[in-house]
Amino acid sequence: MEAMRQLITRFWHFLPVTIILYLSLFTHFTLAFVALARRTSWNLPKWQLAQYVLGFSVPLLLIPHVIGARLTPALLETVEGGYQWVLGAIWNTEGLLFWQSLMLLIVWSHFCCGIHFWLRIRAGYRRWLSLWHILAIVIPLLALLGVYRAAFEVGDIDLGERWQRVSAGYPEVVEQLLWADNAARNLFWGCLLLVAIYHAVRIYQGRRRTTVWVNHPNRGLLNTLLSN
Ligand code: HEM
Repeated sequence: MEAMRQLITRFWHFLPVTIILYLSLFTHFTLAFVALARRTSWNLPKWQLAQYVLGFSVPLLLIPHVIGARLTPALLETVEGGYQWVLGAIWNTEGLLFWQSLMLLIVWSHFCCGIHFWLRIRAGYRRWLSLWHILAIVIPLLALLGVYRAAFEVGDIDLGERWQRVSAGYPEVVEQLLWADNAARNLFWGCLLLVAIYHAVRIYQGRRRTTVWVNHPNRGLLNTLLSN
């Protein structure tokens, strides 16, 4: 598994690919916030509501993961990274195995919903619908079984001692990691707050406007906005 990761990592850590990965994450999150801000009605189908809820729960689960799995080994030269490092943390931090598994299921369901509602009217996609259903269940199940088995193999680690060992002598890097974690979370909550303020202002402006009924000679009775 670690050998495979090293092979895949060579691809992901190739600078243009890393830039594309993080740019696409950034674009996806930005578009999601824009879509949330532009909504004029919350009367939406259940699948779309699920997409919003699932999608907006991803950043909070993903931020500590990326900081722990990618940024920490990148900044701390004492950390080798890899599955030994990540699975050790997941297995030995109370509740993290649950949250990590939940994130995997959320990201997967969000992906499946998105693909399904994008392709649902295409005949080629519908022809293989039963196969997609099976894959949608089997793939995350196998992934989770792999995670649980590998985490069990990594076994018990004293995380406190491990952190002391790798971070001793690098207080400024620890500071940077904490800063990155806080900054990313604050950015997320800040964007959500901005969207909420935008909606509040729009509702307030809507209430201030008065509507009047106009009897149009050709088009009948029309309800028109009267701005203050
Ligand atoms: C239990 C499930 C998971 C495990 C065991 C796991 C493990 C890892 C490991 C070992 C790395 C470091 C890779 C490397 O540097 O070679 C990593 C990075 C990463 N993981 Fe996960 N991961 C899991 C779930 C997820 C999920 C659901 C996502 C959602 C999108 C995700 C997104 C990422 C990202 C964005 C990176 C950084 C990639 C990079 O910059 O190279 N992971 N993960």
